[in-house]
Amino acid sequence: MLDYVTDKVQDEKRQGEAFSPFVNDPNQYKKRFYIESYGCQMNFADSEIVASILNKEGFGATGNLEEADLVFINTCSIREKAEQTVRKRLTEFKKLKKEKKGMLVGVLGCMAERLKSKFLEEENLVDIVVGPDAYRSLPGLVEEAEGGQKAVNVLLSRDETYADISPVRLDSNGVSAFVSIMRGCNNMCSFCVVPFTRGRERSRDTESILAECTDLFEKGYKEITLLGQNVDSYYFVQEKNDETITFAKLLEKVARVSPLLRVRFSTSHPKDITDDVLHTMAKYENICNYIHLPVQSGSTRVLQLMNRTYTREWYMAKVKRIREIIPDCGLSSDVIAGFCTEEEQDHQDTLDIMEHSRYDFSYMFFYSERPGTLAQRRYRDDVPEEIKKKRLQEIVDLQNRLSLESNQKDIGKIFKVLIEGDSKKDPTAWKGRSSQNKVMVFPKENHQLEKGDYVMVKATHCTQATLLGKIIE
Ligand code: SAH
Ligand code: SF4
Ligand code: F3S
Repeated sequence: MLDYVTDKVQDEKRQGEAFSPFVNDPNQYKKRFYIESYGCQMNFADSEIVASILNKEGFGATGNLEEADLVFINTCSIREKAEQTVRKRLTEFKKLKKEKKGMLVGVLGCMAERLKSKFLEEENLVDIVVGPDAYRSLPGLVEEAEGGQKAVNVLLSRDETYADISPVRLDSNGVSAFVSIMRGCNNMCSFCVVPFTRGRERSRDTESILAECTDLFEKGYKEITLLGQNVDSYYFVQEKNDETITFAKLLEKVARVSPLLRVRFSTSHPKDITDDVLHTMAKYENICNYIHLPVQSGSTRVLQLMNRTYTREWYMAKVKRIREIIPDCGLSSDVIAGFCTEEEQDHQDTLDIMEHSRYDFSYMFFYSERPGTLAQRRYRDDVPEEIKKKRLQEIVDLQNRLSLESNQKDIGKIFKVLIEGDSKKDPTAWKGRSSQNKVMVFPKENHQLEKGDYVMVKATHCTQATLLGKIIE
């Protein structure tokens, strides 16, 4: 979930966030599994696929670590800090393993893929290692591990999309759900480990995506976020009629499931988002007016070293185009401070492009060198840590101001809000989101509403993170 936050580090947001249990009959299952997820939305979506695979084999999920026979951690490798968090958690599990004979620990996801059997070399740390494309083999691997063998499958696939598996919705508010539309990435941004941990890009069968969205809508969900590392390069040829489905076409098809179903998507690579996509967004009211368009840097020279394949000017023209076609479009970004060779002037260019793009919010990071990436092999990680941190702080401070200004501009405007549930701080207020993905909080008053309803709300006040408002009759 892309929460409306301006956290410095994306994985901090996720730290320690475990799935809560869904209620099961305790006697119904032969074993219980616990799964904790880190990293991006795709990893969270994968955990739901894993839960579905394990469910079919007679394993039940639990949110209580103590009662689990199988403990899984779905890991992220995007920055070093993400891996450190996982390591710390694994040593805690190791202690638990000593007390609880027979408990098995499995590492899933990107770190499993990156480190492969290295995990198994460390005594009693983990029993099972499974990469993102090998989840179907989990039940067999669990069996192997139960027999005392170390079980590992980190094979990447060119065609696995888990298209036929309907994910078990864990930790869901019953209103919004995530639907994976593709896996892997072919982009090779030089700083990024994802192409190595997730393999080649492949798109999921359109029909299976539509079937999942329709099913979710019938179950009462009102908002779907289509997920992929680079959704705009979605490409699928339907055999039955030889129809080529681009991302714009897919968006349209999902939007047509029902006008009451909101559609979002993440992430867009600036080089691939087309006018077709923008026009489709403008055409359908239920496709949310919000784009996450990571810039990474505002310096053309640095962008080139990052292998992002666009220039500063090209990116700025894209933002202009978005604002032309969808004037009230929400916009957010990812920014990296202190990439290899970054000079003060490059950093100033980043601040400048942020100001120019007027992001509603951003995920901001300092560069963390990842083993095996192009940048690690080609360039020196030569920006000193204190400078990285200083620049990151300036980026965060600027974003905080931009977020506040963006919210202030919305005061007095009326937004259609999808209610997601009670406000965390105040149960007499609702929390929901506008089409632009801004969090709105407003008193319930005497209106007969429930979560999943749409309501018109006028923004009256704001903080940097939230619009506060009032229901309009
Ligand atoms: N596919 C998405 C991003 C996935 S990773 C996209 O292309 O936009 C999410 C974000 O993590 C990236 O956008 C980038 O800002 C950040 N990131 C990736 N590798 C990083 C690294 N080595 N150091 C710091 N931040 C990194
Ligand atoms: Fe990484 Fe770039 Fe692919 Fe995003 S588009 S996952 S940043 S390689
Ligand atoms: Fe992390 Fe893998 Fe996602 S490295 S950001 S969990 S694709």
